[in-house]
Amino acid sequence: MDFLTLFGIYVVVVLTCIALVCRYSGQQHSPLNSLYSFALKRLASITPKWLQKFSQWTLHRLFHQRSNAFIYLHILLEGAVYAEFTYEVFGFCREMDTTLISLSVPYILLAIKTSFFYLCIKTDPGTVTKKKVAGQLHIYSYDRRLFHPGISCSTCQLVKPARSKHCRVCNRCVQRFDHHCVWVNNCIGAQNTRYFLLYLFSVCAMAFDIALLTVDMLLHVVLRTGLLGASYLDENGQRQPAGFLFVVQHLFLTFPRIIFMLGFLLFVFFLLAGYTMFHSFLAVVNQTSNEWYKSRGYVCQHCHPSTVADILCSPVPDHSKRYYYSRGVLRNLGEIFFPPQPVQKKDN
Ligand SMILES: *[C@@H]1O[C@H](CO)[C@@H](O)[C@H](O)[C@H]1NC(C)=O
Ligand SMILES: [Zn+2]
Ligand SMILES: [Zn+2]
Repeated sequence: MDFLTLFGIYVVVVLTCIALVCRYSGQQHSPLNSLYSFALKRLASITPKWLQKFSQWTLHRLFHQRSNAFIYLHILLEGAVYAEFTYEVFGFCREMDTTLISLSVPYILLAIKTSFFYLCIKTDPGTVTKKKVAGQLHIYSYDRRLFHPGISCSTCQLVKPARSKHCRVCNRCVQRFDHHCVWVNNCIGAQNTRYFLLYLFSVCAMAFDIALLTVDMLLHVVLRTGLLGASYLDENGQRQPAGFLFVVQHLFLTFPRIIFMLGFLLFVFFLLAGYTMFHSFLAVVNQTSNEWYKSRGYVCQHCHPSTVADILCSPVPDHSKRYYYSRGVLRNLGEIFFPPQPVQKKDN
């Protein structure tokens, strides 16, 4: 199989995985949804019954029950990238006189990322429990728009604090619920949104740094071997200058694994950078993605279009504004990084 075929297969697999993750970990109202159900109907008519049953079972296990599958997949992909980096790129970079300090940055980032990843997985996101619920009810005020006082969760049999939501995967109510993330097999809520944000930033930094070192190495190779100025003989025996495409093709064939890794890293970087921007934005305006999805439909009733001023400085919540939760960037971020703890009543 030649490289391009392999790469094509790889891109299709990755895109399918991403579509599945978006479909199953995201909200019900995603634009992918209708496309997905359409594709599913088409597929269902041509796949045998047992295969349908099996895939349904697998999808259920992966996305509707807690499972560590994505944590393992995460570690596997990361391991593959770091193995390739250490095994090939590192050596080439040393030959190109890249300093040891800049070559050790990816490993430092890996250590930082792993600790946030671990904290994200291990921290209790803010489960609403019988013991804590009395304290949790006082942390956020009910807006009487998305959250109304006095409503109980039918599964947990506890009064729902403002901003909480029942996670169907974990089967518990979570305070300041954002979403359930399959990659960390945990909900993202009041107590671990900070780790989640830092984790996202560190993954982006990691992918970006390794990609940068790799591009730097490839540029060095191109310049050192004088590839840009090279020429070749065409079928008529004429000398032709080697163009940009020729160089790309040459690199593809000389360093297939490195190019493969670079493609993967750039893909992950752009995908995650967008996602990180979205979550940073939410943090800055004091919203969870759950509230963001829910309030999209709500705003249109008597709304002003949202303005940057709304987001940046709005000392008093104003119901006519899109981001009326926001009390200014610093306070919003403060609440994420130092989440208010429920005051627990002493048992007596
Ligand atoms: C964020 O919004 C909630 C209402 O949902 C509010 O109770 C809380 O005080 C807000 N936080 C900040 C820092 O403004
Ligand atoms: Zn519940
Ligand atoms: Zn969950």
